[in-house]
Amino acid sequence: MEKQVSAHETVRRVEGTEGTARVAADLAPHLHAGDAVLLTGDLAAGKTTFVSALVAALGSDAAVSSPTFSLAQFYATPGPRVLHVDTYRLADLTEFRDLGLDEYLDEVIALVEWGALVTSEFVDPLYVHLATRPDDASAREITMRGGARWAPVLDAVAAGTSTARSPE
Ligand SMILES: Nc1ncnc2c1ncn2[C@@H]1O[C@H](COP(=O)(O)OP(=O)(O)O)[C@@H](O)[C@H]1O
Ligand SMILES: [Mg+2]
Repeated sequence: MEKQVSAHETVRRVEGTEGTARVAADLAPHLHAGDAVLLTGDLAAGKTTFVSALVAALGSDAAVSSPTFSLAQFYATPGPRVLHVDTYRLADLTEFRDLGLDEYLDEVIALVEWGALVTSEFVDPLYVHLATRPDDASAREITMRGGARWAPVLDAVAAGTSTARSPE
């Protein structure tokens, strides 16, 4: 994510999976078909947790699991479909392109774990980086970064105006 020069950035520091879920829920209402969210962070940083909460906040009752082995999954929501991709097992960009997902990208909300691999495939994606803290196993620092399309979204997410089910 460091390669992208993005003018807009918001950092949220949270405790526990519920905290991560609230940030995802804050983001969800702002997502439209054609948007891409590229998630980065180490193994167990919380990428799948974030995706799962986001998909729930978008109104899907699907059980989101890590698509590390199936690589890509679609989830139906009352709005656009969600395409959940995990590039962990992909060797390179060519393998991603060979999945043939390109034709769907305009109509879905794309959520990509290990998203750094596919940065070049998206115009102005939102980058979500999850970082752990050595002193607190349930704390996460969630950095969201994006270009022009994301400026008002990041302002709203910074304010934490969540309509999330779980209260603060
Ligand atoms: N604040 C938090 N946000 C997300 N996950 C957390 C948090 N605190 C602890 N965890 C734990 O960290 C793990 C994150 O796993 P997962 O979401 O699958 O990560 P990734 O997809 O990045 O590999 C889970 O076991 C989850 O319970
Ligand atoms: Mg994962």
